[in-house]
Order: sequence, then structure tokens, then C-alpha cells
Amino acid sequence: MYLDKINEAKSAYTFDDFLLVPNESWFEPKDVNMMSRISTNFKLKIPIVSAAMDTVTESELAIALAQEGGIGIIHRNMTLEDEVEHVKEVKGSGDLIIRDVVTTSPESSLETLKDLMIEEDVSGLPVIEDDKLIGIISKRDLKPFLNEKTNKTVKDLMTCDVVTVPESISPSEALDIAYENKVERIPVVENDKLVGIVTIKDILEQKQYPNAVRDEDGKLLVAAATGPFDLKRAIALDKAGADIIAVDCAHAHNMNVVNFVSTIKENVGADLIVGNIATAEAAEALIAKEVDGLKVGIGPGSMCTTRIIAGVGVPQITAIAQVADVAKEHDIPIIADGGIRYSGDIAKAIAAGADAVMLGNLLAGAYESPGAVTVINGIKYKQYRGMGSMGAMTGGFGGGADRYFQEIKGPMKHSKLVPEGVEGVVHYKGKVNDIIFQLVGGLKASMGYCGAKDVKTMQENSKFVKITSSGINESHPHDLLITNESPNYPTLK
Ligand code: XMP
Repeated sequence: MYLDKINEAKSAYTFDDFLLVPNESWFEPKDVNMMSRISTNFKLKIPIVSAAMDTVTESELAIALAQEGGIGIIHRNMTLEDEVEHVKEVKGSGDLIIRDVVTTSPESSLETLKDLMIEEDVSGLPVIEDDKLIGIISKRDLKPFLNEKTNKTVKDLMTCDVVTVPESISPSEALDIAYENKVERIPVVENDKLVGIVTIKDILEQKQYPNAVRDEDGKLLVAAATGPFDLKRAIALDKAGADIIAVDCAHAHNMNVVNFVSTIKENVGADLIVGNIATAEAAEALIAKEVDGLKVGIGPGSMCTTRIIAGVGVPQITAIAQVADVAKEHDIPIIADGGIRYSGDIAKAIAAGADAVMLGNLLAGAYESPGAVTVINGIKYKQYRGMGSMGAMTGGFGGGADRYFQEIKGPMKHSKLVPEGVEGVVHYKGKVNDIIFQLVGGLKASMGYCGAKDVKTMQENSKFVKITSSGINESHPHDLLITNESPNYPTLK
């Protein structure tokens, strides 16, 4: 019986066990379409998601990644209030319309107006009377009267003939109107009421990111993590505007977690992504609970020790493929989470059935990730730690501990926890857009070799060849001393 267990054990593979086979191709890599899905209701312009880890994703990185066409999942190793704030920061940053507008009244004295402009650091204000926009006044109107005593009020100097735009205005239309009328800011008005203001500066900034992923109101997309049983957090994140809520758990095939998914689903409007899993059975169980996306990966992560400490896991390419086979039947997107070291691994994950990949290590060294740069022997690094590491479970808000079904009890925190991750550093890699440029460039090259013009074709038509350890050795640079490190081939071991 035990021998059967050994003899019947299936083989499972990971990224280094395969290469993609080149295929006939009729286009250039630059023409590849990277569009993909992350959940039933949301599309990405590049298939990249940042990990919900406290050394990877807070609002700054989530904004930078959404501007490039991917999405960040805000980690949950912080108070509910702080996580809500991070979600709001992302949603606020991409809005073309500034809604929290400082206004003045027609009877206001010029002295009061001047003080308000200094205090709020604004150079132009809409003038409101009985809730209606009746004019606009700027520093320029005020200038001739700055050094003299006058009884004039705002209504004597304001421009009454105000150019306004409706809320539905697009960035290009707003820019045309601003240039035509030689104004720097335009009030947004609906039914005579001031809704907000758009400025040329913000419009130009928004046009700088043509690949950004946005919701229907033009705000950047963001996802946020909640604990497997943390309904309160899920509801608060949903209210704050998170587009996707990710139930973040090391073993989402725990049936208590599976059952609680229904409760969360019933209480939030956002899409619900659940993970992590690695088997077809887990996929079936969660899809039955109507999840909007699945996250795959038990132990492939660069700082994970689950496979060593628990002896459990499924090599990642096999895990992706077996979950993808079930998910595709139900049209549910899957995210390959963990173990991605190079752009070639992203290509292999997609070829094995993933709709997107989640990156921890590759984004932890970004300028926009949380934490400071450390210099060791003249080389710049940033901290990177597993959410199941001792540091993450005892620091922050303890969000690392319940991910692994553990509890922090009493003052001797460390002695009662069994870590499943380690803490370390990764190379500092600069801005997210530079990192993404290399990763997407590598993925486009791969799809070009495979003759796959879009993600769906890459999933369905690409072919693998299984390789040996000599094949791996042949694949990496060999027989030379690397003197100039490439941005897409790091040599930190
Ligand atoms: P990479 O390889 O991108 O992996 O660094 C990131 C993913 O690893 C998972 N994760 C952990 N897994 N112990 C684990 O076994 C941990 O402490 C841990 N922390 C994060 C997580 O899924 C992440 O997205």
C-alpha cells in the first residue's frame, strides 16, 4: 500500500524544467497585445500583479503599476484604517477631477481671499453663491490690488463668463477646451452645481500614462488583501473603492476558508480573488463558491520555506496547468503567484494557462516599494521578507500570522510561531516603469518567438519542450565571467 503511494506519485514540473518551442511568426514582438484578465470583471493591459506583501505593495507601488497597465494588491499587515487609506490614495491619484475644491464667496474681501490662496496653496478659486457657480477668480485678478487698501470684494474682480465642462469630459477634450480658452483650470459643473475642477497639469500627467488601467470614472484600478475570515476588513476595503478584494491565505483549500468565501462574496461588490491553491480539486471547490479569480502557488516564492518546513507544495508549472484546466472550463482567470525570476518565467506561466503573474521579489527592489534603500559594500538593496517570516508575523499588524493559521499570543511572540518564510534583501532596481519595461519587453520577445500575437493565443497554441539539467546549464550564460550585469539578468544568488 505504501509502495503504491510511492509508485503512483505523479511527476510535477517547474519553470526550469521546460523551454517554449519557437514557432512560425507573422508579426514583430512590438505588435504583441498584452491585454489580459485578472478577474471576471477586470482587464489588465499587461498581465502583471504585485504581491500583497509588506515589502512590496502599498499605494505608491500600486499607483506606479496601475499607470503601466498592471495592478497592485495592497498588503494587509497594517491596521484596517491604514489599508483603507492606501486604497483611497490609489483611487484618488488617477482621478482627472479634483473634487475637494477650495471655493470662495462673492462677498469675500480681497484680504481674506489672499490669505486663503496662501493657506491652501491655490492660485485660482471658483466663486459660489447659493450653491451655484457664478464666477472664477485667480491670483492674476488680484495682483493690481495686492499692495493697496480697497473695499472691493471678490464679485468686483471675478470673471463671470466661466468656461465649464461636464463630468463626463475626456482628458483630450478637456485639454482642447483649456488651450482654446487659454485657461489653466476648468470648473466641472453638473446642473449648475460645482462638482470639481480639472487642471492642465493633471490632464498632461494623465496623458503621460496611455497604458494605465482605470475604472469607469477614470480612476486607477486597485486591489486589496483581506484575511481569510476578516469580513470587517473586506467590507471596509470595498467601501473605500477597492476594485478587487484578494482573500490572502497560504492554504485556500482549507474548507473553513472555502465556506467563508461565500460570506465575503455576499457582502462586497468588488470582485473576489481567492488563493493560494495548487490543485484541480481546490479550484473546483472555490469556483463552486463563485470566486472571480484564483491565485495559484504553494511554496514557489523566492523567500518561501513552506516546502521545506511543511514538505508540502506542487512545482509551479504543474500547479498552474492543473488549476488552469479547471478554471478555463468555468471561464475564471488565474494568477500564477510566486517563483517568477525572469521575463521568460512569465511567458512560461502564461503558456501553462495563467492569465497574469504575481510578482514579489521582482518588484520588492523598486523605488516605489515600502522601505528604504540600504547600502552594503557599495551596492544598493531593499528589504524583502516572506509574510510568514518571523519579522512579518511579529511586526506590522500580524497579518502574516493568520495567513498561516497562526496566532500571536503573549509577550514571547517569537517562541510560539513557526515561520514559513525568510527575511533578506534584494537588489535595488529603480523605478517600477523601468522594471516593467524589461519584463514586458522579454514577454513580448517570447510571444514573438512563439508566434502568439496575444495572451489567449500564447495560452492555447504555445508548446513546451521538457529539458534536462544540461539544457538548463546551456540556457544560462556560460564559460565567461560577466563583467557588466544586464538589467534583466540579475546575478544576485
Ligand atoms: P516571489 O517568488 O515573487 O513570490 O518572491 C511571492 C509570493 O510568495 C508568497 N509568499 C510566501 N510564501 N512563505 C511562503 O511560503 C512566506 O513567508 C511567504 N510570503 C509570501 C506569496 O504568495 C507571494 O505573492
